[in-house]
Amino acid sequence: MNILGINAYHGNASAAIVCDGKLVAAVEEERFNRVKYAAGFPAEAIRYCLRTAGLTLSEVDHVAVPRNPFARLATKLFYAMRMPSFARERAKVMARFTGIREALAEAFQVDPKAIRAALHRVEHHQAHLASAYYVSPFERAALLSADGLGDFASTMWGTGSGGRMKIEGAVAFPHSLGLYYTAVTQYLGFLKFGDEYKVMGLAAYGQPEHLDVFREIVHSNGQAFRLGLEFFTHHKTGPEMSWAQGDQTPVLGKMFSREMANRLGPARAPEEALEQRHRNLAASLQARLEEVYLGMLRELARRTGQKAVCLAGGVAFNCVANGKIFDHTPFEQVYVHPAAGDGGLAVGAAFYAWHQKLGRPRSFVMDHAYWGPEYSKEQVRTAMEQSGLARGGYRVAELGEDELARRAAQLVAEGKILGWYQGRAEWGPRALGNRSIVADPRRQNMKEILNQRIKHREIFRPFAPSILAETAGEWFEKSHPSPFMTLAYSVRPERRAKIPAPTHVDGTGRLQTVTHEANPRYWKLIRAFGDLTGVPLVLNTSFNDNEPIVCRPEEAVDCFLRTRMDALALGDFLIEKTQDAARAET
Ligand SMILES: [Fe+2]
Repeated sequence: MNILGINAYHGNASAAIVCDGKLVAAVEEERFNRVKYAAGFPAEAIRYCLRTAGLTLSEVDHVAVPRNPFARLATKLFYAMRMPSFARERAKVMARFTGIREALAEAFQVDPKAIRAALHRVEHHQAHLASAYYVSPFERAALLSADGLGDFASTMWGTGSGGRMKIEGAVAFPHSLGLYYTAVTQYLGFLKFGDEYKVMGLAAYGQPEHLDVFREIVHSNGQAFRLGLEFFTHHKTGPEMSWAQGDQTPVLGKMFSREMANRLGPARAPEEALEQRHRNLAASLQARLEEVYLGMLRELARRTGQKAVCLAGGVAFNCVANGKIFDHTPFEQVYVHPAAGDGGLAVGAAFYAWHQKLGRPRSFVMDHAYWGPEYSKEQVRTAMEQSGLARGGYRVAELGEDELARRAAQLVAEGKILGWYQGRAEWGPRALGNRSIVADPRRQNMKEILNQRIKHREIFRPFAPSILAETAGEWFEKSHPSPFMTLAYSVRPERRAKIPAPTHVDGTGRLQTVTHEANPRYWKLIRAFGDLTGVPLVLNTSFNDNEPIVCRPEEAVDCFLRTRMDALALGDFLIEKTQDAARAET
């Protein structure tokens, strides 16, 4: 039985294919069309999923889409009357959504009648919850989804047991932790879609001096919360999100009201310098998010009696808050879906259909994130031959896995910046050792070097470490698995000076714990680096430069040549700049 999950006409358009209850492939459209957070219809992602599963469209039995126009209909109608323009915009999106079969037929150039698959509509947050619970290792768990907005809700919780989910509550529009974070992010001058994680990084540099005001911006009574709507505009105008253009990054309208400036001082313009005041505001934003989020989780633990929790929704990307779950709630185990944002809905909707609608038992755990495209050795070789590499200045060696790991680790230990392109692309926004840039964590100035030469990011944003899972407890104060970089832990104080590059200003690191089982080649690289240096972790950042993470080998080579990386492990090939080429650059 083949189930195709499709997240369309929404940020992070994506597709996933589940065959007989097991995930076979999942990818976001942005990796193909090279538009960050691309919305629209994910035709290329669907094509990739079907190709990988060896299926034609007519062999798909079920199509699951993470949106249900009938969810919260009364709330929708209430706001539609108050916000006609918003209602019109949503009606347009809904019209597209009801035409999923037609969109599929158009993308595959077939008659819509030839598509025999049954269509399932899954409510947005139920798809988020399913994306975490149904692929988690837990038989029983508490479940929480929190994001900006989906199907007119922002938050949903419940329990999963014996392969069934039971929904126990939700918070509806206009109250939303995701929109709260977005509105304050905008107020702080970060206006792009997806900028929230920048402000999370900034928060570590400040003090939560304005917590009292932020407690008025979000009121909480334990399990649920509501926004102080005087600080916002989205409940009057509708959250202006433009998902319409598939070939464009979504754009958000302004969400904070004048009251924000009245109470907290003037909003920062994007070009304005960052002052301590802004850092303190970011710290206050984060501190209040943590109070409310951890409070909800405490209450959820109390009411469900569960020791494990599954998390999804954009707020579940707040790795700083997630890292505090163990100390601030009774939960002892945490599973965060690697694509916790809306990309993950494709997987969630497909598993929801398999378990919740078709009643099938569980047989799958997502213990790694490598569900994206892979390219053959021949394709890799062709990419090298047809690129600027052919002009010379580079040494290319084809190596066995152990030798590749050893030589690459040696380069990293020498302070070289290494592109590491291997196997299947990661599912979700984090590079986890298949589309990564790797560097020496021991060097104080590595963050600056990476920023100057390759990433061009704001200096306050941290870089993350990948560590051998079996050594995590020796370097961090927690050792609970974090395979998808969704938890930040404190680095042990005595270790901080040894790994300054991926240790954030507050002493934490958003770590990836790497097991041999999940990614043997990456594990060997880190192990080899550990053997050389006594430090069993590397700095890992995504393989890109202000673009979606590279997908094809051509993009990897192009990014390598465009930026100033020193070496590139491209599959089995190790490419190094020769001395002459390196000198010519400087
Ligand atoms: Fe969502």
